[in-house]
Amino acid sequence: MKKSHEKKIWIVDFGSQYTQLITRKSRELGYSSEIITLDECRERINSNKIPQCLVLSGGPQSVFEDINDYSFIFNNIELPILGICYGMQLMASYFGGVVEKGLIGEYGHAEIHCLPDFSIPKCSNTMSVWMSHSDHVAKVPSSFNKIIESSNHLVAAILHKDRPIMGLQFHPEVEHSKQGKLILDYFYRDVADLETDWNAEEMLIEALSLVKKVGDKKVLCAFSGGVDSLVAATLAAKVLGGNLHCFFVDNGLLRIQDYHHIKKLQEQTYLKIEIIDAKEDFLQALKDVDDPEKKRKIIGKKFIDIFERKLKEYQQKYKIHFEYLLQGTLYPDVIESISPHIAGGKSVMIKSHHNVGGLPERMNLKLLEPLRFLFKDEVREMGVALGLSREWVFRHPFPGPGLGVRILGVVGPEAIRMVQESDQILYEELIEANLYQSTWQAFTVFLPVKTVGVKGDGRAYENVICLRMVNSSDGMTANWSHFPHEFLEAVSRRITNEVKGITRVVYDITSKPPGTIEWE
Ligand code: XMP
Repeated sequence: MKKSHEKKIWIVDFGSQYTQLITRKSRELGYSSEIITLDECRERINSNKIPQCLVLSGGPQSVFEDINDYSFIFNNIELPILGICYGMQLMASYFGGVVEKGLIGEYGHAEIHCLPDFSIPKCSNTMSVWMSHSDHVAKVPSSFNKIIESSNHLVAAILHKDRPIMGLQFHPEVEHSKQGKLILDYFYRDVADLETDWNAEEMLIEALSLVKKVGDKKVLCAFSGGVDSLVAATLAAKVLGGNLHCFFVDNGLLRIQDYHHIKKLQEQTYLKIEIIDAKEDFLQALKDVDDPEKKRKIIGKKFIDIFERKLKEYQQKYKIHFEYLLQGTLYPDVIESISPHIAGGKSVMIKSHHNVGGLPERMNLKLLEPLRFLFKDEVREMGVALGLSREWVFRHPFPGPGLGVRILGVVGPEAIRMVQESDQILYEELIEANLYQSTWQAFTVFLPVKTVGVKGDGRAYENVICLRMVNSSDGMTANWSHFPHEFLEAVSRRITNEVKGITRVVYDITSKPPGTIEWE
C-alpha cells in the first residue's frame, strides 16, 4: 500500500510541561504541527500515514520503565525525527547507546558547547539553555555523533550519521534557551529538509474549511463579545452569512465597557447579534445566595435555561431550526484532554468554570469549533487579518459568570452598580495612562465589609472596593501588576469621589498561587 504523506509535524506528547511550546515555536518558525499521543501516532503510522517530521517530546518517565516498542517509529528510514530530553534518551537507547540513571541531574540554566567540527548557523558555539533531566545518555550509539556537550561534559545533543535524526538533551522550546528557536530551525530546515507551510493565510484557509463543512445549515453562536467568540463568529459569518445567529445573553453581570462594546459590534460589524435581556432572571436566581460555587452553578444553569427558551422560541415562532453551535474553543483546551497528565493524574477542582459547555448535550447541537487548532495569539492575529479593530482583539479576558464572582457574598443591584462604576473608572484610567496592555487582566472587586471614613465634614461608614490587576501569560499563574503609585492614587481618588457608597480602595498584591485571579 502506498504511504500517504500528512502535511504536518507530529509532536508525540510524552507528558512534558513544555509540549505546547514546541508547537508554538514550530509555528512561529513557519511549520505546521500538531500534538498527538503515542497511541495515536502508532495507529496512524500503522495505517500508513506518515508525517513530514516527528518530534518526540520530553516527559517525566524514565527509559528504564518504558516497555513500548518504538520500531514503528524508528523503522521509517527517511522520517526526520527530533528527540527532546526524554525523546533523545528513547532514541539513544533504541539505537544501542547507554542511558544512565542520573544521581544529581541537571535542572535550570546550563551552558553547552558545540564540538569543534560542528556549528549551527547564526548560533554561538557556547549557548545558555534550559535543562530538566536526571537520566542522561552516557554512551552515544555508534550510528550517531555527539555534536554538543554541557559544561559538566554530559551529552547535550546527538546527530545520526546517515539519517535525519537528532536528539537534544535540553529544551530548545522554552524562552530560557536563548538560541533555542535557531536550533529548532536548524533541525527543521537543515536536517529534516522541511519547507515552511504555516502562516496567517494557511490558518485562515484551515479555519474556513472547517466552517464550510456545515453547508447550508443554521448555526447558533453563544456570543460573549470576547476575543474568541468574536473571531470565531466573524470568520464563520464569512461563509455562513445569514445562517449564523449570535445570541448575546445580558445577565446583568456585565461591565459598562461590555455594554459599549456590544453596541459597537452591532453597529460596526456584519454580525447578526441578538441581545437577550435576562437581567431580572439572573438577579432573581441569585437572590440570597452567597456561596461562590453555588453562584457559579446557578449562573451556568440559568444561561442554559435562557438559551433553551430562546431556541424553542425560534423553532415555534420563526420555524428556524439550529443544527450547530459555534464555539471559540482554542487548542490548549483541546490538547489538555489528551495530555498524559490529565488522563492518568488527578487534579483538584478549584472553581467550576462556566462557559457554554453544557449546551450541546442538552440541545442536541453539533459543535462547530473553527479555532480549535489555534493558540490565543494566533486567534488575535487572525482577528486583525479579518479586519477587526485591535481594541476588540486585544481585550482582557472576562469570566463567564462576570461580575457575579467579583461581588463577594450576595449579588444585589447596589453592589452591581458599585462594581460597575468602579470598574469603568479603572478601565478609563488604564487607557488614559496607556497601561491597559501592560496588564493581563484588570478589574475591581466589591467587598461586603464596611469601614469608617470621613467624607466632607461627616463620618462615613461604607463599603470597600479592591483593585485586582495581574500579569500572566495564560491565567494559570499570575503576579500582581507593579503599577506606579501615582496611577493607583488617581484610580483610588476617582473611585472614592465618584462611586456612591465607597470610602476605601485597596490593592490586591497576591500572586497566583496561592491566590486565584478572581476572588470567587
Ligand atoms: P482564576 O480565578 O481561576 O482565573 O485564577 C483564571 C482565569 O480564568 C478566568 N475565569 C473564567 N473564565 N469562565 C471563564 O470563561 C469562568 O467561569 C471563569 N472563572 C475564572 C479568570 O477571569 C482568569 O482570566
